[in-house]
Amino acid sequence: MTKIPDIIIAIDGYSATGKSTLAKSIARQFGFTYLDSGAMYRAITLLCLERDLIKEGVIDEAALRHILATEGLDINFREESRTYVADRCIEREIRSMEVSSFVSPVAALAFVRAFVDDKLHDAGRRGRVVMDGRDIGTAVFPDAQLKIFVTASPQVRAQRRFDELKAKGQEIPMEEVLANLKERDYIDSHRETNPLRQAVDAFVLDNSSLTMEEELVWVQGLIQGRFQIYQ
Ligand code: DC
Repeated sequence: MTKIPDIIIAIDGYSATGKSTLAKSIARQFGFTYLDSGAMYRAITLLCLERDLIKEGVIDEAALRHILATEGLDINFREESRTYVADRCIEREIRSMEVSSFVSPVAALAFVRAFVDDKLHDAGRRGRVVMDGRDIGTAVFPDAQLKIFVTASPQVRAQRRFDELKAKGQEIPMEEVLANLKERDYIDSHRETNPLRQAVDAFVLDNSSLTMEEELVWVQGLIQGRFQIYQ
């Protein structure tokens, strides 16, 4: 295994670009901890849905702010980064189409972002972390030692998300999956607080036609070059 220093690796990009698969592979390959920031926004969105805080598409911001400030939300990751709230596994629920369709407006709220950022900063303090999201390299860890911005064509991304949902037994029409991705891309990159942007010092990876093995070889080369590791 290539030994790399105790750095933070930030992986940002649009929805369904395979960021989390790449981040998990990097974590496995280099012995890093993987942290899925999107899962945190999804957990908060699930909380909103279960507490009935979204009515006719409108989020009850005051109630959500109150819950986060008084009760908090004990989001944690176990067993290969499955998402939990306290001892309840919510991995399946947070990947549903319903959560996907509300997560971008929830993630656009500044107090929600501050809540998640606190948790991410705590986790990053120890180093040796690979995080994926939309604003990790630009806002959460602007000093991350390695930043990767992942892109892929919307059609390739929609097909991947469609296959993922189908494998989980959710048959959603392709047009709906593609429309949801485009809508999230728009909201994520146009919101006021820390929108999705490519950091100026990020390396761009277009994985539209790459296999995971090819992506890992690319990342490995990048890390070896960046940290002058020759072995
Ligand atoms: O990566 P994902 O699709 O699971 O992320 C879900 C949503 O969370 C995404 O639409 C935007 C939001 N998000 C964000 O705003 N900032 C992050 N760092 C990670 C995710």
